[in-house]
Amino acid sequence: EAASKGGYDHFMLKEIYEQPRAIKETLLRRLDDNGRIVLDDINLTKEDLDKISKIYIVACGTAYHAGLVGRYAIERFAKIPVEPDVASEFRYREPFIDENTLLIAVSQSGETADTLAAIREAKSKGARILSITNVVGSSVARESDDVFYTWAGPEIAVASTKAYTTQLVALYMVALHMANIKKSISEDYYFEIIEKMKALPDKVEEIFKKSDEIKKIAEIIKDKNSVFYIGRGLDYQTSMEGALKLKEISYIHTEAFAAGELKHGTIALIEKETPVIAVASQDYLYEKMVSNIQEVKARGAYAIAIVKEGLDESLNHADETIYIPEVDNILAPVLTVVPTQLLAYYTSVIKGNDVDKPRNLAKSVTVE
Ligand code: G6P
Repeated sequence: EAASKGGYDHFMLKEIYEQPRAIKETLLRRLDDNGRIVLDDINLTKEDLDKISKIYIVACGTAYHAGLVGRYAIERFAKIPVEPDVASEFRYREPFIDENTLLIAVSQSGETADTLAAIREAKSKGARILSITNVVGSSVARESDDVFYTWAGPEIAVASTKAYTTQLVALYMVALHMANIKKSISEDYYFEIIEKMKALPDKVEEIFKKSDEIKKIAEIIKDKNSVFYIGRGLDYQTSMEGALKLKEISYIHTEAFAAGELKHGTIALIEKETPVIAVASQDYLYEKMVSNIQEVKARGAYAIAIVKEGLDESLNHADETIYIPEVDNILAPVLTVVPTQLLAYYTSVIKGNDVDKPRNLAKSVTVE
């Protein structure tokens, strides 16, 4: 087992460090000589896309969080309304589905029972099924009309890392592919985003250099009873994924909140020295996030910020800040999640937990 960890102490750390390569593989394998996206197993035509009036993205756990980012990408690029839902809830609320519905299922393993059940429900009502999965020939792939395989390679640690970032890349590519067919964005913008995606692996590498800073923060939070993540827009989605990562392997109670919702209840939970991790990568929301950081600090919180380089440092009064490289707002989730993965990892290691096999959890949940 030590050998398969490739010199790393845990599979999770190995998989975190594999992300630049996994992102590169997922992206570059789908670009032709002209730099256009070619998706061999997706057969959506312009006619098909013009017919689609609604998209559901259905998934569980980390894959669901990828779906939340996918909504932004598809609505922005392909201009089709998207509703993400957790697979275990989807079929119990009689979702409106007809033959103009596309259901996108996201699943690392391709074997999650709730996700499969959602696929079957949607299919029986006439929806087309497009899946994003990491396992070739998995049940989810076999039951779908269109498939996008992420090239993350096997993911062993229960806490998902490289599967998530490659799911994000897959969702951006599916969204851009749809947009290109529909001509809903300009050629220039299409190529601009693809170019920016090519720069992501090196930017993820840059974040690895912050490991020591992140370890220091792990020491600060390790004995806390509660940690909060806050963010706005796509930083809220990262907050949810960061909170899931931290709670599942450190066993510290962690919650994510939309920063704008703080004043509607959450702020009552902030006590002296409660760690609040604020994710701030979205230029247009930065000043609002700065105010939220000030609000929690005024109630005694220990504020830790994950901030994009280039945003005005003089406004940021957090107690600790981890900077991530400059990146387009829409692609930021690929970077902002990386410090949250490392923070969860180091906190779990410091606490002496079984990082790769956290208590009560399974890698793939094949029962409903
Ligand atoms: C389990 C795993 C999670 C994963 C979720 C969905 O809960 O512990 O890491 O995100 O299942 O799995 P899937 O294979 O469908 O992506």
